[in-house]
Amino acid sequence: MDSRISARALTSVLGGWRTREPAYEALADGIRVLCVDNRLAPGTTLPAERELASALGLSRSTVAAAYESLRGSTHIRSVRGSGSVTLPLRRHDPGLTSGTGDAIDLQQASPAAWPGLAGVFSEVAQNAATLVAGTGYDMQGSSTLRSRIAERYTARGLPTRPDEILITNGAQSALHLLAAVLVGRGDRVLVETPTYPHAAEAMRAAGARLIGVPVTTADGWDLDRAEQAFARALPVLAYLMPDFQNPTGRSMGSDDVARIDAAARRTGGMLVLDETTADLDIDRAGAGGAFDAVRRAGVVRVGSFGKSVWGGLRLGWIRCEEPLVRRLMAARPVRDLGSPDFEQAVGAAVLERFDDVVAQRAHVLGASRDVLRERLAVRLPEWRVPRPDGGVSLWIELDAPLSSALVMEVRSRGVLLSAGARFSVDGGYDRHLRLPFTTSPERLADAVDRLAESWDRVRDAAPQSVPVMDGALV
Ligand SMILES: Cc1ncc(COP(=O)(O)O)c(C=O)c1O
Repeated sequence: MDSRISARALTSVLGGWRTREPAYEALADGIRVLCVDNRLAPGTTLPAERELASALGLSRSTVAAAYESLRGSTHIRSVRGSGSVTLPLRRHDPGLTSGTGDAIDLQQASPAAWPGLAGVFSEVAQNAATLVAGTGYDMQGSSTLRSRIAERYTARGLPTRPDEILITNGAQSALHLLAAVLVGRGDRVLVETPTYPHAAEAMRAAGARLIGVPVTTADGWDLDRAEQAFARALPVLAYLMPDFQNPTGRSMGSDDVARIDAAARRTGGMLVLDETTADLDIDRAGAGGAFDAVRRAGVVRVGSFGKSVWGGLRLGWIRCEEPLVRRLMAARPVRDLGSPDFEQAVGAAVLERFDDVVAQRAHVLGASRDVLRERLAVRLPEWRVPRPDGGVSLWIELDAPLSSALVMEVRSRGVLLSAGARFSVDGGYDRHLRLPFTTSPERLADAVDRLAESWDRVRDAAPQSVPVMDGALV
């Protein structure tokens, strides 16, 4: 089924698109960025030229020229009578050949597999005859894996029974299921901004109206805004990443937790804590986990092996009260019929060595983060680069709001990134860029060199009216 985007909605997601001259090429670039990071899915009908021109305050001929440029680059096709429709990315787009050439794909923050994983696969395969004698999948998850996960929570000071765990096919599938069960059409859901975009999409798909609470690398959560949002919007649910928030890398302290928990309790909203990145602790030596002090009902925790072990394992889980586990299981079959036993056996075996896994992660991610920061300091000293003490990425503040233009330019040099706006809930972040440090130091240094070349070009091409950090004009 084809979908349409209204002129108003397109104007809103385009954000600050006037990144170069002529304006029609800047507009075409803005739409290309939306295509490459999938905010405009293939098959989406764009607004009629006249409507978009009026929404953007442009002449119709400017929009017509932008659509012409998009036809030329095969991002859209136009058919008389049915409008202009986005196309799948063409074959020679670097985004489609990533992993095969020298393209550096930093759109996803996916660390390489924990090196011991292949050995665990082989060990588990020794048991293949027993595994294939059963059905091979399971709706709630294997009792062995659920017990091991429950033991880890209990050891953290959160007493947990195996029946309070539901195994899912990754954290994304957990979030999608939770959204479907807990969120109704028109319900308010509080989310951080910037946030992990696919969680926001899952909430929206369930009908949620998202209320953004800002998180910054310098100051963390805007607690006043969070308290106001809880009190005014009465969200049914708040989706939060308390440890190594993706993308900022910030973690909540005990004051953040106390105020957010109190605000949620006053208004009865459920807290969904995404702990996918929580074990990626580089410098904190396990001193985080401030939310572990909250042991009441109404707090749902989501975990995953995706970042700590390997995304290809596709295993995650939900920790919640048993009645909610049952509701989730009842709602699950329409989506999937359970998680595979083989992967679950691997997951259970990995948890026996999890201290080694976490130590290896800290080492590898720390080395990549440091090289990335050092290279940025040399090649792009005008950018504000934070130093997160864990997680997967740097949330960088650029010295001009040209994130989307940079993403398009550097794509032609084989570096694939998502623009800052991709992580926004209510627009903005044209001045921000997420740089994951989940690949090798050598590739990251190479990516920074290509980014520096692109940044020079993007800055040179920017119109005079694009403000830089200190308020002066470019
Ligand atoms: C914060 C966060 N939650 C959930 C996910 C999805 O995890 P999974 O790969 O387990 O589905 C990701 C993956 O990028 C993530 O960063």
